[in-house]
Amino acid sequence: MDLRTEYLGLMLPHPLVAGASPLSDDLDGVKRLEDAGAAAIVLRSLFEEQITREQMSEYINLDSHGESFAEAASYFPSPHAFQMGPFEYLEHLRLAKKAVRIPVMASLNGATPGGWIEYARLMVQAGADAIELNLYRIATDPATTSADIERQAIETVRAVKKAVTIPVAVKLSPFYTAFAHFARELDLAGADALVIFNRFYQPDIDAEELTATRTLHLSDSSELRLRLHWLAILSGRVQASLAVTGGVHTALDVVKATMAGAHVTQMVSALLMHGPEHLRTVLADLATWLQEHEWESLAEMRGNMSLLKVPDPDAYERANYMLMLHSWRA
Ligand SMILES: Cc1cc2nc3c(=O)[nH]c(=O)nc-3n(C[C@H](O)[C@H](O)[C@H](O)COP(=O)(O)O)c2cc1C
Repeated sequence: MDLRTEYLGLMLPHPLVAGASPLSDDLDGVKRLEDAGAAAIVLRSLFEEQITREQMSEYINLDSHGESFAEAASYFPSPHAFQMGPFEYLEHLRLAKKAVRIPVMASLNGATPGGWIEYARLMVQAGADAIELNLYRIATDPATTSADIERQAIETVRAVKKAVTIPVAVKLSPFYTAFAHFARELDLAGADALVIFNRFYQPDIDAEELTATRTLHLSDSSELRLRLHWLAILSGRVQASLAVTGGVHTALDVVKATMAGAHVTQMVSALLMHGPEHLRTVLADLATWLQEHEWESLAEMRGNMSLLKVPDPDAYERANYMLMLHSWRA
């Protein structure tokens, strides 16, 4: 069965990629993902805040501006909150590249242009096959417009693209006013792939303690539907490759995402729940599904559910919304 796919200019034997997660935090984990059949691995993110802290501490050592540094640094998470510091990250990337044959992508996580982007170049030197740039940001300031947010994101993508020659994928949240337009702007800025979507880890409220509580729930397949919708809208409309992250658990999820236009399907929650070996099961199920449904390759189904075929997608979306609401009978 031909499951091959091209992503970020890399020819992959199939679309199952291990997304950014703690599963690749050590070399055993990286090798285990390769042994289980991952077509590529995305390492977890190195954050803008970690890099900025590192760069500021070098500056402090040089010029002893201790007080102003302490004030600014109070907003940053403590270095102990992270599994790896910037230097350890690069070293881990270098060793991971040596340990496996599959492509290893590094992940940078930041939302505004700045000196931290220098690390993109260091990731290339450490052997990264591509960079996944995660633009996670919650715009809380009412004075900041959607245009401001998008401009900063585009400038960040341009700066990373300028710093490196390897492909750059951009990982996004769905919370943009006109996502299709923003996706096209990212495309024009040179994003080689769009990774949709970041999960927003929604805090809860502890009503007794009057605190916000952080809980990390893993996904299930129901989260895929938001992604399918936007994949189908973007498929055929952007030059960038499309990756899906969020809610890919089974072979059928992979089939649906491919039909909606995904070139690769990243998995994290499913692998955390069932172990990396789950990749092998999904891969075998995928080949069986295609065979039983008489598809010769994944490529021939890619994007066959794209909204490009719909003459007026806006009207189609409204119609579906109305039909859905009126399908319910009391
Ligand atoms: C424990 C954990 C750590 C994660 N760390 C990162 C990270 O460092 N960078 C990143 O871009 N995404 C990170 N993610 C998000 C995943 O890469 C993925 O986008 C998300 O979990 C949705 O996919 P899933 O439904 O397959 O889990 C993390 C997810 C989990 C559960």
